[in-house]
Amino acid sequence: MPNRARLGSRSRRMAILAIPVTITFALTLGGLSCTSRRGPQGNGAGEPVGEAAVATANPEATAAALAVLEAGGNAADAAVTAALVLSVVQPHSSGLGGGGFLVYRRAGSAEVETLDFRETAPAAIDLAAITTGHDAKVLQDGGLAVAVPGEVAGLDEILRRFGTRSLPAAVEPARRIAERGYTIDARLAERLVARKGLLERFPASAAIFLDGGAPRGVGTPLVQRDLARSLAQLASDGPRAFYDGPIAAAMVEEVARQGGVLSRDDLRGYRPKWRTPVEGRYQGLRVVSMGPPSSGGVLLVQMLAVWERLGADAKGAPGSTEHLAALAETMRHAFADRIQALGDPDFVTVPVAELTGAAHADAIAAEIRAALGVATVPPTPAGTAPLTGGDHTSHLSVADAAGNLASMTLSINTSFGSGVTVPGYGIVLNDEMDDFSLGRDAPNVYGLVGGAANSVQPGKRPLSSMTPALVFDASGEPFAVLGSPGGPRIVSTVFQVLVALADQGLGAQEALALPRIHHQAVPDRLRLESGRFSEEIAASLVKRGYTVALEEPWSDAQVLVRRGGSWQAGSDPRGVGGAAKARIRATIPPSGPGPTVVETTP
Ligand code: DON
Repeated sequence: MPNRARLGSRSRRMAILAIPVTITFALTLGGLSCTSRRGPQGNGAGEPVGEAAVATANPEATAAALAVLEAGGNAADAAVTAALVLSVVQPHSSGLGGGGFLVYRRAGSAEVETLDFRETAPAAIDLAAITTGHDAKVLQDGGLAVAVPGEVAGLDEILRRFGTRSLPAAVEPARRIAERGYTIDARLAERLVARKGLLERFPASAAIFLDGGAPRGVGTPLVQRDLARSLAQLASDGPRAFYDGPIAAAMVEEVARQGGVLSRDDLRGYRPKWRTPVEGRYQGLRVVSMGPPSSGGVLLVQMLAVWERLGADAKGAPGSTEHLAALAETMRHAFADRIQALGDPDFVTVPVAELTGAAHADAIAAEIRAALGVATVPPTPAGTAPLTGGDHTSHLSVADAAGNLASMTLSINTSFGSGVTVPGYGIVLNDEMDDFSLGRDAPNVYGLVGGAANSVQPGKRPLSSMTPALVFDASGEPFAVLGSPGGPRIVSTVFQVLVALADQGLGAQEALALPRIHHQAVPDRLRLESGRFSEEIAASLVKRGYTVALEEPWSDAQVLVRRGGSWQAGSDPRGVGGAAKARIRATIPPSGPGPTVVETTP
């Protein structure tokens, strides 16, 4: 395995030592940049300690993270604060009812630590109901779609391990926005329209997100008092409020009412897990990302290794047919491995070293080179359904002035997850159960298929594509912090953005602006971002044997990259996010003291 023949509260809450003062920050909102001045100027507070940078999918989350950094919080404090704000301002993307992954580097350390706070299948999950109900989307909509949420436990664990601030402090900005109301942005408004049919099936969801049955419109306030109350309980009682208190009771009751099987014991038993990171090299850079149960790190590292081996002749010039075909083949092979071999490492042995190793990359590169960029698997007839959206799920990237780095991707899976909201608590529950595989003939919402490695089992974590990544240069200095939403297109997006940063020396915003392609082996279709490629290019790819599909822009990547000794922060122009950097004068306490008690996998 693998072979080419096949694979088809503690809380050392330290006092904040110094508060003043941020000087300038550049803010990028939905692709527009501006520079602002903040805080008292020229107050003799001394030289800035250093530079910090943030990119998230929402300007309010970016501003909240920046405020934490300005006040002397570190990257973990800022990331957790931003994640909680995202749960309020992007209720369709991530939140307390979901899960995620963190990739973190403590300042001054070469070690990268990765936390898995992915959801788990409930113990009483009913396989027969899932299989027979697959066509009725029982893993996407309603109670059976809900897996045990991990975000609350994950964020708490991150603060305990790395943070310098308390959970109540991290919760407060989110709670305030939930109570005061968030002015609905264009993207959220579009999601509300698209998901009206789902939301109206669940009264607790309709009561919050619809107004007399109509989707709340852009520019109107979304007030979430119930969610504000949940956040307040989280602040006062800690994660217990969520996993073993009144919120848990209400969640279990509502999931049962909507046909699911989540239990109080499932919630009590939930634990985030520290996992072994997945690492690789690309053009002298060290790339570190999330290991199983995400496929992200394995696929990214393999794609980079193959890409590096292909050589200029096979790759052609950026934008050429050769280049696009080589990219597509690199993606296709990685996804073929995903289908075959990847799943929750607590349930199956995942051959990470082989899949990301040199011999495997050599073999794939040789296969692609031999075909000279021609599709190496015969094309199958085009299917019909385009991939669903690509902007739910949320990534955030943070670098603080001391050198701590946080790359975090959060999800409730599809837009507004299962559609089920916990009555009285405003928490939208995930539909992460759809990330399991029910076999080769039962593609999930993203068209993904899989095998036994990713089959549904009680307590198992569904395979993810989330690819939060940290990249270091040859001397070990930070080079980039990045990640994205997009379902399986997360991996291909991160791959293409990172290649653009590393190979073409592009800035963060330039790399994000490049057109994207995606291939995931099954269905056998080469997806091109519509309006971004010429008809000639599309026709030449068809001539090479590809079944080409033009699709609406996807993903919402958030990127920090070092250029000229300084951070550049970029937010995907396809989204409405915000990227900012700041000179920080506050002294940042070191990251927390180290391991706390959690389960680890070998
Ligand atoms: O974990 C995963 O791979 C998915 N639940 C992510 C979903 C996603 O990115 C949706 N965005 N389009």
